[in-house]
Amino acid sequence: MTTDLLQRPALSLRLKQETADQHERMHQLMAQGDPFSSRTSYGRFVAAQYLFQRDVEHLFHDPAVQAAVADLHVRGRQEASLADLADLGVEAPQEAIASARVAMPAALGWLYVSEGSTLGAAFLFKDAQAKLGLSAEFGARNLAAYPEGRAVVWRRFVGSLDHEQITPDDHDAIIAGANAAYDRFGALLTRFFQLG
Ligand code: HEM
Repeated sequence: MTTDLLQRPALSLRLKQETADQHERMHQLMAQGDPFSSRTSYGRFVAAQYLFQRDVEHLFHDPAVQAAVADLHVRGRQEASLADLADLGVEAPQEAIASARVAMPAALGWLYVSEGSTLGAAFLFKDAQAKLGLSAEFGARNLAAYPEGRAVVWRRFVGSLDHEQITPDDHDAIIAGANAAYDRFGALLTRFFQLG
């Protein structure tokens, strides 16, 4: 291994730094969409979340993804989103899986965006409770913490990202995967909030 490889920052740090603009764009889209102004508006957010979670969980079936992230069984919010849509009386949208051609290592970037979004979801969950009267049992399951707690599950995911089995040669493709996942979620929010 060369010195150059040793000096590269951890993948998790690169992901955070190099997709910061995308994260900021999510804030802007959420502010514009204003999902906590009414249950109708929030239902549009959950529809976008459901389709995104379908795309992400589709990747869970790939043995290479399973090898990279050992605890996939505790992750993903597709079912929670679907149950929330039913609570809200919103029909589940149907469309083709957007990640059908995504494979490792880019798949890890998609998982990064989904898993990271569970951190910001802590704030969204509070709004859903306070402003819309929803809960982890009704309407806001998709924003609730995983049973083990948000921080524990997130730190374990970061451990998978920064594990030695993910080689530096894969990092650029993983960051590209994260950008593609942000693009997908951004496009879904734009469409469902009718911002375009
Ligand atoms: C208005 C909505 C959002 C808010 C307020 C928000 C807030 C936050 C906050 C405070 C963190 C850092 C938590 C910590 O370091 O302990 C975070 C992390 C993150 N969020 Fe968001 N977020 C929002 C929406 C989203 C969306 C829609 C996505 C993607 C679909 C997303 C993806 C991420 C990712 C990937 C991280 C991890 C960053 C890292 O440490 O590498 N966020 N968010």
